[in-house]
Amino acid sequence: MNPRDYWQMWRARGLRLPLTHFLEAHAFDLRRGTDTATRLTPEQYEAEGETFERSTFYGAAWTSVIGQWFDWVAERVGPEFSSRTFVDVGCGKGKPLIVWAEKAARAGATMPICGIEYYAPLADIARTNVEHLGLSERITVITADALDVEPEIFGQRPVLFFFNPFDAVAMRAFIEGVAQLDPIVIYGNPVHGDVIEESGFTCVHETSGWHNGLFVRAYELAAGAG
Ligand SMILES: C[S@@+](CC[C@H](N)C(=O)[O-])C[C@H]1O[C@@H](n2cnc3c(N)ncnc32)[C@H](O)[C@@H]1O
Repeated sequence: MNPRDYWQMWRARGLRLPLTHFLEAHAFDLRRGTDTATRLTPEQYEAEGETFERSTFYGAAWTSVIGQWFDWVAERVGPEFSSRTFVDVGCGKGKPLIVWAEKAARAGATMPICGIEYYAPLADIARTNVEHLGLSERITVITADALDVEPEIFGQRPVLFFFNPFDAVAMRAFIEGVAQLDPIVIYGNPVHGDVIEESGFTCVHETSGWHNGLFVRAYELAAGAG
């Protein structure tokens, strides 16, 4: 992590942001020897084309936020939890996959865990992180545009995790393709939540706070939709 990033955070938001970033991002890597905290700016992507144009850029979800949503989904679905594939759509360096796998191990939950990342260098880092932690048997990382993946591979009623991966057009195309699976959608920084709702889903839970990293919504198909 570049000290300059901490300096910029401090200038933008005062002490709270760099401190929280250390605890919620950097400390995750220090504890595990992984590489997830460092963001990728648009200039660092050596990518072009429609997927890149519609994409946001890599930054990891905060550790406690992922954990909190694991707990919420576990309670929401109860005994079915292990049958719900967890999919991080735009998985970047794989942090939500790792948090889900670690918490699942502690809870005795055995759901498949899968990440999709179109930018190959990020997907490779995710695989390296997963291998380093001995989680390769638990976690599959697919290098692909999420819009090109056959939704059936997620099984019925998957848990789809998004941390603001793409624009409204891509979100609409993706969500309409997966609605038939009756997923739970966990959407961090849900800037295109209106698109999810227009596709027949309703917000069933929300968290928010002083930073948009804390703003997360859960959606399920509205009764009678799908
Ligand atoms: C804000 S980051 C979130 C990373 C990860 N989900 C996390 O929370 O730590 C969004 C990621 O989505 C990826 N992405 C954007 N559009 C995508 C697409 N169409 N298919 C697959 N990945 C995509 C980006 O490359 C980036 O790594």
